[in-house]
Amino acid sequence: MKQLQPTAQAYRASMIYSIADPAEVGLEESYRYFDDGLMIVEEGRIAAIGDAEEMLKDLPSDMQITHYPGALIAPGFIDTHIHFPQTGMIASYGEQLLDWLNNYTFPTEQNFEDGEHASDVANIFLTELLRNGTTTALVFGTVHPQSVDAFFEASEARNLRMIAGKVMMDRNAPEALTDTPESSYRDSKALIERWHGKGRLHYAVTPRFAPTSSDEQLAAAGQLLREYPDLYMHTHLSENTNEIAWVKELFPEQNGYLDVYDHFELLGERSVFAHGVHLCDDECKRIAETDSTIAFCPTSNLFLGSGLFNLPKMEAHKIKVGLGTDVGAGTSFSILQTLNEAYKVMQLQGVKLHPFKSLYLATLGGAKALKLDDKIGSLEPGSEADFIVMDYNCTPLMSYRMKQAKSLEERLFVLMTLGDDRAIKETFAMGESVYQREAESVS
Ligand code: GUN
Ligand code: ZN
Repeated sequence: MKQLQPTAQAYRASMIYSIADPAEVGLEESYRYFDDGLMIVEEGRIAAIGDAEEMLKDLPSDMQITHYPGALIAPGFIDTHIHFPQTGMIASYGEQLLDWLNNYTFPTEQNFEDGEHASDVANIFLTELLRNGTTTALVFGTVHPQSVDAFFEASEARNLRMIAGKVMMDRNAPEALTDTPESSYRDSKALIERWHGKGRLHYAVTPRFAPTSSDEQLAAAGQLLREYPDLYMHTHLSENTNEIAWVKELFPEQNGYLDVYDHFELLGERSVFAHGVHLCDDECKRIAETDSTIAFCPTSNLFLGSGLFNLPKMEAHKIKVGLGTDVGAGTSFSILQTLNEAYKVMQLQGVKLHPFKSLYLATLGGAKALKLDDKIGSLEPGSEADFIVMDYNCTPLMSYRMKQAKSLEERLFVLMTLGDDRAIKETFAMGESVYQREAESVS
């Protein structure tokens, strides 16, 4: 091993990370695992990883090693679709998508005109992400540019790799929440100039969904993407059957929901469409052809009664899929709980979601979906050291159940089924500890 810097850190625990999609290489070839692993972190990056006994032979004898017995280290989770302004309205009762938006979401989002409020919520939100082991997310703001400034400022202060954007919305919403094609273009552009590529931050052009944007506004979104080729595009697609019927009424010229976005040149390798629950084969083909991504949001799809996401269909079309919590329609910040619900969504369709596929969706699959797999989603040397320590003994039931587990995949499955924020012992971003469960006090 090369000479280590004096600031290098060493961690010892079980370690796992995905190296490829199980749908492409098979389950056994999709991951690396060290039962007793050692990982060296230097200057915010993973410098080395391997079997502890082997690596200890080469380490300086006075090197401090942080040991986590009964724990599993994995890459930080990646949430490919979430709304930070909806933190305070999670678990709102009784409605499906369109009424839920009108009755709960729009009134809540109006409060983000106040930049101080936006800043408070951004900090609560980021703390919640880190408590749940999520180190990168693709995030909706509100229509107010100050909501996005607040979010990026809070993310920058914690040195997190985050993607966010200002909602573009110029119709079918309360007046206090609408912009215009011109103002949305101008405000987005100013935010892009201020934040995109600053440290670990990226900008996503964010038209809310087709029904709340005019043709002119969707054209402005396309214009921004052409002007800055490495921007993201983030929106909703084919979530709810009433929504789909409404899009057909609003855009009679276009050949369906996806075609509206396609017409305005919003598809591409950095475009992320949340949900995609009701896509037809032609739409899947077009998504694959343009290398666009779908964010699978199981807790949201169940909570709003939207429908069951067809993951095997996406695999058959070779569509990139990430996992999204979609808080506040989603009911948990926990990617472990999101995987628990994903498993059930698949069971209802007679499909088994294997824990190695789940690990992939939550980490490397999300990173690939966001074109960030050269940086995050893995523990491979060279990766940014965004990682989590998960505790197999975080509750009496988990601890007891783990004692019966006979294999790695069984332990992983139990973690993903019973686990939630309580399973996240510690979270690291760029090699710095940014959350410790032990140090937490609830107020
Ligand atoms: N479609 C348009 N806006 C939203 C939103 O805020 N949440 C969800 N789940 N779907 C949407
Ligand atoms: Zn959403």
